[in-house]
Amino acid sequence: MKLGRLHSFQLSGQRFLLHFENGTACADVLNSRTVRFYEGTPVHSFAVEADVHEPTEVRVEMDGGPVLCTEDLRIRVSADFAVSVCAADGTLLACTSDAPRTPREKMSPRWIKKMSALYGAMMAGAENGADDPLAAEGHESAARAFGMKEPAVSMQWKLFGDEKFYGLGDKTGFLNKFGYEYENWNTDEPKAHTEQYHALYKSIPFLIVLRNAGCFGFFFDSPHRSRLDLGKENTSYFRYEADGGAADWYFLYGPRMTDVVSSYTALTGRQPLPQLWTLGYHQSRWGYDSAESVREIASRMRAEEIPCDAIHFDIDYMDGYRVFTWDEEAFGAPGAVVKELGEQGFHAVPIIDPGVKKDPGYAVYDEGVENGYFAKTPAGEVYVNTVWPGEAVFPDFGREEVRRWWAGKEKYLTDLGFAGTWNDMNEPASFRGELPPDVVFHDEEEPMPHAKMHNVYGHLMSKATWEGLKDADGKRPFVITRACYAGTQKYATVWTGDNMSLWMHLQMMIPQLCNLGLSGFSLCGTDIGGFGGDTTPELLTRWIEAAVFSPLFRNHSCSGTNRQEPWLYGEETLAIYRKYVRLRYELLPYIYDLCRVCEETGLPVMRPLVLHYEDDPKAWNCSDEFLVGESLLAAPVVEQGARQRIVYFPAGTWYDYRTGKKYEGNTRCIVDAPLDALPLFAKEGSIIPTWEVTAYVGEKEPEILTLRVYPGEGTYVHYRDNGEDFAYRGGAYDAYRFEMKDGKLSAQLLHRGFGHPYAEVRAERIG
Ligand code: GLC
Repeated sequence: MKLGRLHSFQLSGQRFLLHFENGTACADVLNSRTVRFYEGTPVHSFAVEADVHEPTEVRVEMDGGPVLCTEDLRIRVSADFAVSVCAADGTLLACTSDAPRTPREKMSPRWIKKMSALYGAMMAGAENGADDPLAAEGHESAARAFGMKEPAVSMQWKLFGDEKFYGLGDKTGFLNKFGYEYENWNTDEPKAHTEQYHALYKSIPFLIVLRNAGCFGFFFDSPHRSRLDLGKENTSYFRYEADGGAADWYFLYGPRMTDVVSSYTALTGRQPLPQLWTLGYHQSRWGYDSAESVREIASRMRAEEIPCDAIHFDIDYMDGYRVFTWDEEAFGAPGAVVKELGEQGFHAVPIIDPGVKKDPGYAVYDEGVENGYFAKTPAGEVYVNTVWPGEAVFPDFGREEVRRWWAGKEKYLTDLGFAGTWNDMNEPASFRGELPPDVVFHDEEEPMPHAKMHNVYGHLMSKATWEGLKDADGKRPFVITRACYAGTQKYATVWTGDNMSLWMHLQMMIPQLCNLGLSGFSLCGTDIGGFGGDTTPELLTRWIEAAVFSPLFRNHSCSGTNRQEPWLYGEETLAIYRKYVRLRYELLPYIYDLCRVCEETGLPVMRPLVLHYEDDPKAWNCSDEFLVGESLLAAPVVEQGARQRIVYFPAGTWYDYRTGKKYEGNTRCIVDAPLDALPLFAKEGSIIPTWEVTAYVGEKEPEILTLRVYPGEGTYVHYRDNGEDFAYRGGAYDAYRFEMKDGKLSAQLLHRGFGHPYAEVRAERIG
């Protein structure tokens, strides 16, 4: 029901309470640029876990109706919770739209009638338990598509015609999301992810809107299945709708995009500094199925002189795919091979899925059943579906007690010597159709249907894992997760799931990781070389070049595909692969500094050009280049056979990272890019810290800091700590400030708290 006429309001502290004919709503001012809007009483948020209210001056002015004013915003609320938001100078930024819905015509009334009948039959089938995949999957969306069901929440915002849309997590396609529609419903679809996909593994309902008048964000904080139509249905409005709950959303004003990203990450949490080794190279494959195979990979990595810090253990290390077990037959004495790897400087990272094998006598299953830790059917039976171990049951991560139980299991892994946990299949994925919407989970102690808990399942699992690892070894937890909700960045690094060895997927890597970064997930990466399908020498080569700056730097592939270790693709591929992994290690201090910046400001490591050049129309849709911090510009080749490419240089002067060749900004240039070249440029005035390349992080403490100094003037802050635990939060770090001015480089120690000063700081002038 619509809220109707606004008949009164009152300001209570920073909360603007609104009384409508048919209910209440609120505009809660968190700070002068961030306001939460909700209907009724607020429900707890999975994403926003801290109270981030800042004391803010708020007043209500009367101007043909009440206008809520902060130092930066003027917000008018009227009947039916219509909202319009202006900047302090009166410039209209955003306003709801009551334009009638006019979908582009795609269905005749006759067709709708036919489909409605079909849909009715499908629903009846589903209710009778028919094993019809159509009935099990997505019947909710079908209902809506045929106009048979109204969403619980729907909002329409006026399109002014100058919008560019970014964010939304891992959605496929290009950088700018204008003109597309998406769904927030964590989805594991084992096919090639194309531009048409509406949903992948992560639901991050955070939308950045860039307009000529400024940049702002909407965070629609609902774990329910939801949809966004960004000008696809109609060019006069964009729509958000959710299948459950009540309206609860935030408006985050910039005015710059960097401000929007900072505000959003202040709200939902920032990605904490990772352990340094996690930024090294990771080798993985679904199919290292014995201790011997893992040993072989490790020794070959060293023999080929490819720096490497981690080897991942996919599902084969477990006993019959039972989580928190070890297959002694194939992997020998529990943990022995992990310790051996450790002695050679490798960290081992095991996969852990949520599906617990239904197997009386298996401790994890028995404990869970005994204590009521698994999701249930509405009739109260433990709910069973099928995953890797066969019949499996699903921990009810919404309950704190269950999370604590699961967290306690991490100790089993750290005792084996494992250095982190890779959480997979946590959408949750299942092989006998999606879990029905009414499977009973909990939101803390309140029973909650799968329909509401689905999108936060991976989030809650990651949180449990993060806490468990932290308790187990006190280090900065290294958790990788596939499924996420907004805010999961506090607990986990992410990868983009099962991509394929396709040029199209290499191309998509750039906008996908950039949008993840804008959505709070700086620590992200793709499966280098592609997970499904067979890679080629050229594709693998171009992928390692393009991925040099992916914070998660992991080659992973699917069982049944050609193996993907670089030495299997000929001498040339191997040499180039080695060169780029070595470049990564050379630049580790720069990447680590950016992780520190991310923890402080929310700005990601990999950044789309538009983040720093939002006034430049050529940056708006730039999906094939990216910035690394503010100083480096990478323009990888992502096209088969190309040996040159066009590079767009935004404002300023740019220098080739190695040769120092100069390029003027605001130009497009054709740049040579033979197979072994990643076009990489440094901005004028850049100071880039590098270390000597080692076989792995911690092989030896870096003694020499080499600064690559490019023409121009600039400053740079370099950060250093033990790369492992939380001592830095108590001050155990060093920070240096370097400045290039009037042709002279000067250094200043900003903070001393880490025990290892550099023996030498060198400057290398380039260009
Ligand atoms: C899923 C994961 C993939 C993993 C496989 C087997 O498909 O996305 O990375 O290798 O399961 O565990």
